[in-house]
Amino acid sequence: MPHTTQMHDTRPKTPTPRGPRHPRLLVTGGAGFIGSCFVRNRLARRDGTTIVVLDKLTYAGNRANLAPVEADPEQAARLRFVVGDIADPAAVAPLVAEVDAIVNFAAESHVDRSILDPEAFLRTDVMGVHVLLEACRVEQQRATGGERAAAPRFLQVSTDEVYGSVESGASTEDDRLEPRSPYSAAKAAGELLVNSYSVTYGLDTVVTRGSNTYGPYHHPEKLIPLFITNAIDDERLPLYGDGLQRRDWLYVADHAGAIDHVLEHGATGETYNVTGNNERTNRDVVAQLLARLGKPWSLVRLVDDRPGHDRRYAMDDSKLAGLGWKNKMPFDEGLAATVDWYRDNEGWWRPIKSGEWQAYYRRQYSARLAGSKEAT
Ligand code: NAD
Ligand code: DAU
Repeated sequence: MPHTTQMHDTRPKTPTPRGPRHPRLLVTGGAGFIGSCFVRNRLARRDGTTIVVLDKLTYAGNRANLAPVEADPEQAARLRFVVGDIADPAAVAPLVAEVDAIVNFAAESHVDRSILDPEAFLRTDVMGVHVLLEACRVEQQRATGGERAAAPRFLQVSTDEVYGSVESGASTEDDRLEPRSPYSAAKAAGELLVNSYSVTYGLDTVVTRGSNTYGPYHHPEKLIPLFITNAIDDERLPLYGDGLQRRDWLYVADHAGAIDHVLEHGATGETYNVTGNNERTNRDVVAQLLARLGKPWSLVRLVDDRPGHDRRYAMDDSKLAGLGWKNKMPFDEGLAATVDWYRDNEGWWRPIKSGEWQAYYRRQYSARLAGSKEAT
């Protein structure tokens, strides 16, 4: 075999552009709100990344969220879409075998639905995570046996809701987990499992805990898109309780970008808070979106509260800042862009607000709206 050694190479060196550390990704839940943003933005960088999306296409998953990728032949060639369940080992194992990292967005994500029907949350947000981790463990053994170069990295997308309601101050990553809804309890269980696989089996894992995310392609069951789309149709806006609950709002491209940053730079076994640094009451957010739409406050109705409603979420983001991450989108600009996107994209959300949606909406809101009060 020819072997050459150049002891003193004096030719000018062209810097090699550094590619991504994990160029082959499995993105689970990549047809959902934040996962699809991650896929669109990562492929748009044209850095050679290839992505397999594994998505069950539940009521929340939507192939149309990836339409911008599919309309671009160069990006489309680097995307493979697989319809399947993260809780199905037969679907998961071959996909995990061919990637450098897994980013797990797949989840049942709506608190109100977790109160109506908790079981699906346990299946996906706990058992699904377990199945993904087991597949990573097999790949780690293959790496140890020399069958692949390295074990895959596993990034679990979690939520600030695992800290529970935070009356004052800001949660840091070492704070106690005190989830209070079936959704947040399932998410907490999922990330505890992830950490246990890092400690026990030495898997390369990272966890992100994101705050309330908003932006285009957000399913209309959630506060901001529900209220924008209802207001466009001059329908009533069901504000829970006194509407003075506080959330920290994070633009979707910033959330997806922070996840990508942690995937590339996060230390193994660590957890990172991802915040928007935009704490607002629900009333303030609603007033602002109505003003952008030019619709009256009289559309807002005070309705019976969500059971166990967390009053406030707030996180400290200094650990992620220390990793070099900074958000780009100011809230006022992000909210205005979001309102305009829904105004311009009725073809995306009107089909979602039909079919199964009607039954869900009646179950969740009919009695509430019947007993609603004017919001002064
Ligand atoms: P989403 O509901 O919009 O999307 C979830 C996606 O997962 C959908 O495409 C759905 O089809 C898919 N999915 C559900 N069950 C599946 C299964 N068993 N197998 C494969 N795919 C499945 O959710 P989102 O708002 O984009 O949230 C993504 C992740 O981020 C979730 O893990 C959520 O807990 C977390 N998170 C969300 C927010 C937020 O404000 N939206 C904030 C912090 C963290
Ligand atoms: O904080 C992160 C979490 O943010 C994510 O983990 C969840 O996946 C995501 O759904 C979101 O949870 P919230 O429960 O905070 O989001 P939601 O949009 O459902 O509600 C936001 C606030 O608005 C909350 O205080 C409840 C209130 N609300 C919501 C709806 C749907 C209303 O007042 N009326 C409504 O109809």
